[in-house]
Amino acid sequence: MKNNSPGVSSFTDRIGGSGAAAWDIHIIASEAQERGEDVILLSIGDPDFSTPKPVVDCAINALNNGDTHYAATAGRTELRQAIADDFSKQSGLATEVDNVFVFAGTQNALFSASLVVLEHGDEVIALEPMYVSYEATLQLGGAKLVKVAQPADNGFRLDIKLVEQAITKATRAIVITTPNNPTGVAMTPSELESIATLAIKHNLWVISDEIYTDIIFDGEHHSIAALPNMAERTITINGLSKSHAMTGWRVGWTIAPKQLAQHFDNLTLCMLYGIPGFVQEAALLALTDEREASIVMRDTYKKRRDLVCSELAKAKKLPLLKPDAAMYVMADIRAYGMPCHDFCHALYNATGVSVLDAGAFGSSADGWIRISFTLGEDTLKTGCERIVAFLASLPD
Ligand SMILES: Cc1ncc(COP(=O)(O)O)c(C=O)c1O
Repeated sequence: MKNNSPGVSSFTDRIGGSGAAAWDIHIIASEAQERGEDVILLSIGDPDFSTPKPVVDCAINALNNGDTHYAATAGRTELRQAIADDFSKQSGLATEVDNVFVFAGTQNALFSASLVVLEHGDEVIALEPMYVSYEATLQLGGAKLVKVAQPADNGFRLDIKLVEQAITKATRAIVITTPNNPTGVAMTPSELESIATLAIKHNLWVISDEIYTDIIFDGEHHSIAALPNMAERTITINGLSKSHAMTGWRVGWTIAPKQLAQHFDNLTLCMLYGIPGFVQEAALLALTDEREASIVMRDTYKKRRDLVCSELAKAKKLPLLKPDAAMYVMADIRAYGMPCHDFCHALYNATGVSVLDAGAFGSSADGWIRISFTLGEDTLKTGCERIVAFLASLPD
């Protein structure tokens, strides 16, 4: 039938993005799981833990007590204060309530930061591999995304010369993710300093996605905002999805120079009107009384990381990148001579184990797969054994 409806805007092209094909394996496996089939989903970054019960109870109590009305668009002062205190403590940068703006998840915070600081004609540098939604999110307002590889043969670590070469007169911002999804690499102070030097020299914004801050296994987290002269040009984004297994609650925030608050407020009035009050109360509890729960989750992820790395090390030709942080192990399947997308489907068809083609996160990860450890140890062990047996069955 002929479609007579008026056309959509060119904006829809910018939010289309690529990388969707990488998720098809996850969708196929999830559907099979719903049908009760024997599948093991190692393709998703959604924690298997339940949100800590006191956090859930707090939201229920707030609902029962009538906390069901519009809430402050920037977030309630107590919550913003808790976020500011947390960030001050973790980063060493004195942070105030007015530096904090609460959004519906880290993704929504990135979306908002992107619209507030980037525009048509700008270039935004993002280090890849990068989280799959970045491509569309950073180009929403018409800015051009310039991807800069963190090469696999350097352990997916920063190559600052490549960043420097990518800077032009049109560059407006650099986007980093530390710790990184999919690589689990946490940036060192000297790597952050080298980015800061460029940002200051060329008067650029830095958007720093730090959603995996609380899931670092080795070493400490460092925030670029805390380096000298960086607070005025850095938007740090974070949230509770990973630290407290709260992906479905949609709580995230920005920590940014105070002058951005007015613009975030205007944007929030257009798109969101603030997140629900009962969610904010639960988030406040998570950040204060329920810190310990987050530490227990981190320690569990660490055990899982070690288990997955030692099980997969039994494969003959599977170099691994042991992650510093987060919930994923990267494995290099190039020795098996199969395109990654085909490999993921062949593995799934043979074993019921779904993993992601990491090339979807950027071309520097072509030939690598991302294996999530968001399942219990027994299931993870079985999943790894199946992967190792599948690899052994492939021709040399
Ligand atoms: C690096 C990164 N940023 C942002 C997000 C989105 O997080 P949220 O659930 O807080 O929107 C994710 C989710 O996996 C992520 O890995």
